[in-house]
Amino acid sequence: MRIDIVTIFPNICRAPLSQSMMKRAQEQGHLELHVHDLRDYTTDKHRKVDDEPYGGGQGMVMKPEPFFAVVEALRAETTGASKVLLMTPQGTRLDQRYVERLAADAPDQCIILCGHYEGVDHRVVETLVDEEVSIGDYVLTNGAIAAAVLVDAVVRLIPGVLGDERSAWQESFSQNLLEAPQYTRPATFRGNSVPDVLRSGHHAAIEQWRDELSRKRTEQNRPDLLDLPKPTP
Ligand code: 6GU
Repeated sequence: MRIDIVTIFPNICRAPLSQSMMKRAQEQGHLELHVHDLRDYTTDKHRKVDDEPYGGGQGMVMKPEPFFAVVEALRAETTGASKVLLMTPQGTRLDQRYVERLAADAPDQCIILCGHYEGVDHRVVETLVDEEVSIGDYVLTNGAIAAAVLVDAVVRLIPGVLGDERSAWQESFSQNLLEAPQYTRPATFRGNSVPDVLRSGHHAAIEQWRDELSRKRTEQNRPDLLDLPKPTP
């Protein structure tokens, strides 16, 4: 999968995507990542990417020209299908289902545009962008952090990127339930012992304990998940 991120802060997304599993995914050829500086696609000597909003109001709006220039240039680099996403707090909210769909669709090229300031000229959204994506209901100073989150979540689903740890985590989310608590050695730590059932070797009992604790944890931390329709496998 080829991913092109476009931002005025390329180093913000380069850092998290050049280490650990994302580094390995690139070394092993699962991910071809390119990070581009939007300012490289300006044509004026000040490399200006924003301007005042029509109609007045606070803050600056990102100009359309550099976005059109970069998307046209990047699309010309591939013959396959490309998908253009815009990271913005105005987008649809990212969740595991969205991530799974994007990983399954696997466009040849995914171009991720990052917003900044008060927003992006709407002609970019209407003409260039296939989907607007937000990573949650809070506001970040820039979309580059959000783009790194999206890329990590999608790339870990590409077959071969993760080892064994993958399936369990994903399954629990697709059941709208959080994971049960986990323990490792020592069996007793500062007077707190691991629940006996986990050391019993009784697999059915362990599974039952985990189901129960999953439900309790979900009720306590994420009751909203329990109201969602059961996903179809
Ligand atoms: Cl994608 N961008 C910004 N600036 N803030 C956000 C976001 C994106 N998602 C949640 N908050």
